Amino acid sequence: MALDSKPAKRVNALLAIENAATRKMVASLLRDSQYTIGDEALDVGHARLLLERVGADLYTVIICDKLGEAGHLDVLRYVRRETDRLPRSTPLICVADAWTAEELAQTRDFGASDILTLPLTHHTLYRAIGKSVTKQSSFISVATYCGPDRRMAVIKNYKGPFRREADKHLPRREPSRATPAPGLAPAQGGASGAVKPPARPESEIEWNRAIATGDMRIDVEHRKMIDYLKILGDASGEEDGTVATSAVLDGLRDFVVQHIEYEESLMETFDYDDKAMHKRQHAQFVARLESIGKDSASLEEQRRGLFLDVFEWIVKHITNVDRVMIAKMRGEYGATFLADICDLQTEVVINSAYDLALRITHASRIANDMAAGPSKRAHLDGIANTTERLMNLMELADVRVQINGCTDSQLRRLGEIRSALFAGAESLVESAANRLIDYSQDILSGRYGIPLGIGDTLLRQMGQLDSLAGVIGGPEAMGERSRKAVESAEGLARQVLGCLEGGAVCLEEFA
Ligand SMILES: [Fe+2]
Ligand SMILES: [Fe+2]
Repeated sequence: MALDSKPAKRVNALLAIENAATRKMVASLLRDSQYTIGDEALDVGHARLLLERVGADLYTVIICDKLGEAGHLDVLRYVRRETDRLPRSTPLICVADAWTAEELAQTRDFGASDILTLPLTHHTLYRAIGKSVTKQSSFISVATYCGPDRRMAVIKNYKGPFRREADKHLPRREPSRATPAPGLAPAQGGASGAVKPPARPESEIEWNRAIATGDMRIDVEHRKMIDYLKILGDASGEEDGTVATSAVLDGLRDFVVQHIEYEESLMETFDYDDKAMHKRQHAQFVARLESIGKDSASLEEQRRGLFLDVFEWIVKHITNVDRVMIAKMRGEYGATFLADICDLQTEVVINSAYDLALRITHASRIANDMAAGPSKRAHLDGIANTTERLMNLMELADVRVQINGCTDSQLRRLGEIRSALFAGAESLVESAANRLIDYSQDILSGRYGIPLGIGDTLLRQMGQLDSLAGVIGGPEAMGERSRKAVESAEGLARQVLGCLEGGAVCLEEFA
């Protein structure tokens, strides 16, 4: 695919990219954009050799990946500081599939023209090259920094390079004057070099045609249910979860009663053959909402249970029952409508699973950069909970696909979700095992007595651990640390279960 406009300046690129797939992909994007590839290097030594021998046919841009671990810094140092065979201001764009905060800061301080994160699109690469090659801002070469000027402060009567410390007290340019390209690292200077958490992916269920009934009031009210679901899904941490659960429960109970009253008033306006079934489902949902908080479940378990109930209600009741009722009321119900519902439900489940997988991938990347401590632990717990929801959805998706089939693109998407799940499963196993260890040890210490329903909770946590381990391929496929954590967690949990069978008295032995 060629881009609409050709580059204003002829571009002859040196690709110094170790990863063959990335090199091939970047080369393809460049050729599609009508750029020339001067040379390709596979490692730092090869890249330096090409740069040392470069002649009249200068590279107008260099694109490199990390070339091992930090080979891009060697290339940057050579181009910016050591060679005179090509201009020091030669644009140098660094690409990688992930950057830590430290890597970003180093790459920036070594004078990279741009820092991109894979995957790239034509537009991203084209814009980065265009910005570096044809619209390059002034170049700074001082003892402490050699690279493009990325400062955003405005100095009246500015006459040359100045120390960045002085920027702190200066007015900043309007953001619109320096909008970074997608995937571009933050501008240099101060805290802006830190990795910013990626924008939170869309909530796991969004309004779409699978949920729309066509009745304006009902649709508005169903959207409100999705908002409640988002509040529950976005809550993380004990305090957040508690506030969210009680707020949603309070709001949802009243709201659902009013909503149901309206739907049931519509049922009386036409000859509706599913009236009894529909009313029964309404009553069951109301009863379920009323029952939450009246058993021994912890607040976190209540939040997760409520989330799954509301989610299931949206997927099953709204798409399957409410939509049918409105279609019947309008005389639009028939075989085509039924087939459509089935496809749409599968679509909702798969898209929701995909959004969850995205959320887990983003959260896992953030976790990699977090220092060990309570925040990281809470973050990992959040990932484990989201993974559990993803696994539930994948089971549901599998059943639907086996019974009703699915499209090729849905099948592809399921494959992508499984890959993401597999990639992050080992750290999730470890996190789930540690959670079970802590929980079991607390019980065995006797500090908190024996919570009601502890046996069910432990069995559920063991089941989750088992499912996660199954995603990886069992204990044999795990690293030593994860395997030991799982063995320890299962051993402790079995001790607790053994004690429960034998009576609470024996718990004192472990105190
Ligand atoms: Fe409804
Ligand atoms: Fe309904």
